[in-house]
Amino acid sequence: MESPFKPDILKGKVALLTGGASGIGFEISTHFGKHGASIAVMGRRKTVVDSAVSSLQSLGIPAVGFAGDVRKQEDAKRVIESTVKHFGKLDILVNAAAGNFLVSPEDLSPNGFRTVMDIDSVGTFTMCHEALNYLKKGGPGRSSDDSGGMILNISATLHYTASWYQIHVAAAKAAVDALTRNLALEWGTDYDIRVNGIAPGPIGDTPGMRKLGPDEIKSKTREMMPLYKLGEKWDIAVAALYLASSAGKYVNGMTLVVDGGLWLSRPRH
Ligand code: HXC
Repeated sequence: MESPFKPDILKGKVALLTGGASGIGFEISTHFGKHGASIAVMGRRKTVVDSAVSSLQSLGIPAVGFAGDVRKQEDAKRVIESTVKHFGKLDILVNAAAGNFLVSPEDLSPNGFRTVMDIDSVGTFTMCHEALNYLKKGGPGRSSDDSGGMILNISATLHYTASWYQIHVAAAKAAVDALTRNLALEWGTDYDIRVNGIAPGPIGDTPGMRKLGPDEIKSKTREMMPLYKLGEKWDIAVAALYLASSAGKYVNGMTLVVDGGLWLSRPRH
């Protein structure tokens, strides 16, 4: 679908996206690139990263990719430094890397719980922590009249209530939302960095839906949905564009729910 925004709203910006080579992360990479940003993608699988970079470059988007795991602080540091080395600065960090599987609490080992916390929550904090020096107002590569950079954390809605077989992810995304608010408060005040989130509902054609939404669940879910349809990756990418562009300059510490109102709804009786 065509973008409702002008093609230059992120002109001159440099964005680094974890999980930026697949699913929702790749869609955001593509939209940011089509609106003027230079793109660095980080992912664990080198082949996936390389193919995402080729796709972005074939659209004329300046793009570079780095293999790395957000669970490793040295990877986070290396990828952020390499991004700045390549493009000269960092304006936008998108934390889209996530881990998920369906499991009941009694079948989930503490290590399984920890693994998802490590990827989603600790990984997001680690990336933010390592990126701070470059995102803050007056940081390396930023011109003196530049404001600070922006962080966007991809979250979920499943911890607003409770979700079957998702105790680990609900805990991890609740922590992500806390990071969004606390960093917005402290880094907004001290460093002029905006920190926001997006909580997508069920989005078609994503690794998350393939893992979590077998067809029978999908059709049941659909019956409960006020807008009666799955979201598209496009919906998340244009929300990200709004928050990352100057249109979002007064939005800080907010996680924008993009789910068609699904989390509010209950089955009809
Ligand atoms: C129970 C499981 C499990 C499963 C792994 N574990 N899969 N337990 N059921 N299906 C447990 C393992 O037994 C182990 O604990 C621990 O988790 C670590 O498993 P590993 O396989 O060693 O981990 P790793 O190779 O690092 O893989 C991480 C992963 C994997 C999260 C398990 O699925 C992954 O890499 N996912 C990334 C891609 C992804 O999930 N994308 C979808 C995101 S969707 P023990 O005790 O045995 O050692 C999303 C949407 C959220 O986030 C919102 C939804 C609405």
